[in-house]
Amino acid sequence: MSETVNVAIVGATGAVGEALLKILAERQFPIGRLHVLASERSAGGKVDFGARQLVVQDLATFDPAGIDIALFSAGGSVSKQYAPKFAAAGAVVIDNSSAFRYDDDVPLVVAEVNPEALRNRPRGIIANPNCSTMQMLVALAPIHRQAGIERINVATYQSVSGTGRRALEELGRQTAGMLSFQEAKPEVYPVQIAFNVIPHGGEFTDNGYTSEEMKLVWETRKILGDDAIGVNATVVRVPVFYGHSEAVHLETREKIGAAQARALLEQAPGVEVVDEHADGGYPTPVTHASGRDPVYVGRIREDISHPRGLSLWVVSDNIRKGAALNAVQLAELVIAEG
Ligand code: A2P
Repeated sequence: MSETVNVAIVGATGAVGEALLKILAERQFPIGRLHVLASERSAGGKVDFGARQLVVQDLATFDPAGIDIALFSAGGSVSKQYAPKFAAAGAVVIDNSSAFRYDDDVPLVVAEVNPEALRNRPRGIIANPNCSTMQMLVALAPIHRQAGIERINVATYQSVSGTGRRALEELGRQTAGMLSFQEAKPEVYPVQIAFNVIPHGGEFTDNGYTSEEMKLVWETRKILGDDAIGVNATVVRVPVFYGHSEAVHLETREKIGAAQARALLEQAPGVEVVDEHADGGYPTPVTHASGRDPVYVGRIREDISHPRGLSLWVVSDNIRKGAALNAVQLAELVIAEG
C-alpha cells in the first residue's frame, strides 16, 4: 500500500460511524481519499471529519474501486450484501457486524489479544468482535495466558448506544417524558428502558439464552483459540448512554491471586486498573469509560466461594474500544503489514 490509504466508512451517519470519523481524525490516520457512505435517505447530508465536513454518498450506487480499507458498521444485512463486493474490488474490509464473525475463513480480532490472526484473511474480510466480548477479553487475555481460564460467568450492564442512534434517542425521550409524567412509549426496546433494566439483548435462541449472550460464548472461544472455555452470560440493558460494564467471575485452571491478577492487568495493553478499596475507587461508565479508549478494570478480588475463582468489574466505552477504536487499530495493523 502507498503512504496514504483510501478509506470508505459504511454506516458513517450511525453512532459507530461518528466515532470512526472522530478516531481516524484523532489518531491522524494516513488517509488519502475518505468516502462516507450510508443509505439513500442520508445521501447528500454532511458528517464532520476533524475540521472538515464530508458529503454522505449512497452505498447502493458507490463504486468501491480504489478503496484500500473499508470500515463497515451498518448492520449485518448491509455487510452480507456489500462487504464481498468491496473485498472483490481489492479493499480489506473490517466489519463491525456479526455477519462473518463465526466463519472459519474470517479472522475475529481484538488488537491487543490476537493481532496475529488478522494476517490470515483469505476473503479479504476481518471481523470486529461484539462490544461485550471485546472489553471482556482485553481484560481476561492476560489472565488466560498466565493461569488458563476454565470458565467465565458474566453479567453485562450494557448501555443503549450499542443498539444504535435510535436507542440513544429513545432513552433521552423516555427519560425527559417520564420526568414530566408522560407515559413511556417503547419503540426500539420491547419494554421501557428509562429508569429500568432489561435482561434481554438480541433474539432468543432455542437454549433459552439470547443471541447477544451466545456471542460472548462463541467469540471468546474463537479469539482465545480455546474451545474448552465455558462461558455463561446474562446480557442486561441498562439506562446508560455510553459505556458497558461487566461483572465477570472466572475460574482458572491454576490458582491466581488477586494481587497477581492486578499486577498482570497493570502491565496489560489497553487496560487501566482502577481498584481502590474506597468510595469511588472503581470505574463506572460515566466517571471513566465514556469517550475514552481504555478498558477499565476494578473490584479485583478472589472469589470466596471457589478455590480458583476471581471476580472483576470491567468497564469500557462500547462505541470506542467496543467497536470503532478496535476497527481503526485493526486498520493500522493492516497498514503496518506494508
Ligand atoms: P442511514 O443514516 O442512512 O440510515 P446506527 O446503528 O447508529 O443506527 O447506524 C446505522 C448506520 O447504518 C447508519 O449510518 C445508517 O445509515 C446505515 N445504514 C442502515 N441501513 C443501510 C443501508 N441499507 N445502506 C447503507 N447504509 C445503511
